Amino acid sequence: MAATSLPLIFFTLCLLSPLTLAQTPAPTSSPSPTNLTGILDKNGQYTTFIRLLNDTQIFNQVENQLNNSNNGLTVLAPTDNAFNNLPSGTINSLTQQQKVQLCLYHILPQYYSLNDLQLVSNPVRTQATGNDGVWGLNFTGQNNQVNVTSGAVTTQISNALSQQKPLAVYQVDKVLLPEELTGGSPSTISSPAPTSSPAKANTTVSSAKEPSPAGSGACQSNMGLGLVVGLAMVCMGAVSS
Ligand SMILES: *[C@@H]1O[C@H](CO)[C@@H](O)[C@H](O)[C@H]1NC(C)=O
Ligand SMILES: *[C@@H]1O[C@H](CO)[C@@H](O)[C@H](O)[C@H]1NC(C)=O
Ligand SMILES: *[C@@H]1O[C@H](CO)[C@@H](O)[C@H](O)[C@H]1NC(C)=O
Ligand SMILES: *[C@@H]1O[C@H](CO)[C@@H](O)[C@H](O)[C@H]1NC(C)=O
Ligand SMILES: *[C@@H]1O[C@H](CO)[C@@H](O)[C@H](O)[C@H]1NC(C)=O
Ligand SMILES: *[C@@H]1O[C@H](CO)[C@@H](O)[C@H](O)[C@H]1NC(C)=O
Repeated sequence: MAATSLPLIFFTLCLLSPLTLAQTPAPTSSPSPTNLTGILDKNGQYTTFIRLLNDTQIFNQVENQLNNSNNGLTVLAPTDNAFNNLPSGTINSLTQQQKVQLCLYHILPQYYSLNDLQLVSNPVRTQATGNDGVWGLNFTGQNNQVNVTSGAVTTQISNALSQQKPLAVYQVDKVLLPEELTGGSPSTISSPAPTSSPAKANTTVSSAKEPSPAGSGACQSNMGLGLVVGLAMVCMGAVSS
């Protein structure tokens, strides 16, 4: 019994092993040029921004706009570090509407290449509006270096994550707090808000979702290698018997 079923098991394992192998390297196919989630996800250091965009349903809005308008969109994506560098509680103390405004302030209702941004006339409309109308950002550029300022915050556009019409996505290393939200001074929005989820204070730590090649990844690939070697030997055994 055992003697007859063993080759069968080996054979099955041999059939399965290419599958196992195919799964080990992370599928790194580029996300579609209009998939903001995919573009941000792929780069791994935008978990806070992704969560905010998701919580505020702005991902859906972005998708609709890309679908229904010819102007395209430009997204300024603050890194997890940018969020971590805010005074603690800044984001949690925002109302849902303020979170929406903060997110929309990082989205321009038009596609701008880096080149466009160097030459654009200020202020540039964002998607955010308040009682006082549309909130703007100012851009200044020189030699392919572009700075952006909200008045309260100035930072450099450091990296283009995607620059393919209709969607441009750029990295910013600071959260662009609108003056309209800070009231000119960040302290007005940094008071703790007991109503918001307490778990969120900790979730801004970026390490959780970052792919960690040194940690479990290495462990996995060692296991993977062991498995492959083992299977190879088993397969050779099965074939030669
Ligand atoms: C966009 O990318 C995300 C994350 O990579 C993926 O889960 C989602 O299915 C993609 N959406 C579309 C419409 O391709
Ligand atoms: C996005 O929000 C929905 C609820 O609106 C939640 O179920 C889902 O887990 C969220 N996804 C991410 C990636 O935060
Ligand atoms: C774009 O619109 C088409 C039809 O209106 C729809 O089938 C498609 O799912 C939409 N795509 C996105 C990404 O919203
Ligand atoms: C951008 O800001 C940096 C630092 O504040 C400054 O040194 C640089 O000249 C600015 N560049 C432009 C194009 O405004
Ligand atoms: C933005 O640019 C406009 C026009 O140059 C100027 O009036 C305004 O003060 C600038 N705002 C900031 C925050 O730099
Ligand atoms: C979460 O944050 C609170 C207060 O900031 C801290 O006391 C607690 O240790 C943190 N928990 C984790 C798991 O980091």
